[in-house]
Amino acid sequence: KQEQIAIAIDGPAAAGKSTVSKMVAKELSFIYIDTGAMYRAFTYKALRDQISLEDEQKLSELLADTNIELEQGKNQQHVLVDGEDVTHDIRSEEVTNHVSYTAKHPNVRREMVKRQRGLAQKRCVVMDGRDIGTHVIPNAEVKIFLKASVEERARRRYEENLQKGFSTDFEKLKQEIEQRDRIDSKREIAPLIKADDAIELDTTDLSIDEVAASILNEVKKVLADKGEK
Ligand code: CDP
Ligand code: CDP
Repeated sequence: KQEQIAIAIDGPAAAGKSTVSKMVAKELSFIYIDTGAMYRAFTYKALRDQISLEDEQKLSELLADTNIELEQGKNQQHVLVDGEDVTHDIRSEEVTNHVSYTAKHPNVRREMVKRQRGLAQKRCVVMDGRDIGTHVIPNAEVKIFLKASVEERARRRYEENLQKGFSTDFEKLKQEIEQRDRIDSKREIAPLIKADDAIELDTTDLSIDEVAASILNEVKKVLADKGEK
């Protein structure tokens, strides 16, 4: 019988959370839940509907009326908002640079966390975000906090953009990452912070495979411990 375990992966922008979470989930046949995609999907809709991102009341009403689904497709996970596939739209620069403003409102977070806990219930999951180990699944069996220098994180995003076929201003990219980290770390509710019992991994000089292997190793230890009990 497979043990029910949850893996929480947190950290700042472009630390490698989603890339590594997907690999770990695939290896273990766990479900991957990208909580950042949920905040992005909601931000996409709020921008489209021209709701002020400062208006917590309006945003809460909008969220209550918004269906967000994460669907496992053949090659990638799809994000649906009210049935519409927004997988690509939610990665736009506009959404990226606004998402931290919607995500700072306590009532928006309360609802998102409720939905995320529902998704994580009674399943083996890898969930990544900013507050997974501290708030969403504080009893997760494995908690990882990924970090990397801001230079390296900006470089990773720069490379990603190049592969998508466009060149970005490196300094601007770096400033946008720093700005988002600042808002995420300074907000009053569930800020980006390492859980006391999370394992911190500095990935600046590590390959994706090395990071994934190190997380899988932690999972193996936990599974072995559980087996002994
Ligand atoms: O992939 P990237 O690091 O660019 O960001 P993401 O994981 O898609 O998250 C986008 C934004 O959503 C973050 O900058 C946070 O403002 C917010 N977020 C959050 O507040 N809490 C989470 N659990 C996940 C994301
Ligand atoms: O989810 P998060 O924003 O934390 O990061 P991501 O979207 O997974 O982006 C990380 C990018 O850096 C991807 O293009 C990875 O291929 C690359 N990368 C990594 O994730 N980890 C390393 N150790 C080295 C590179």
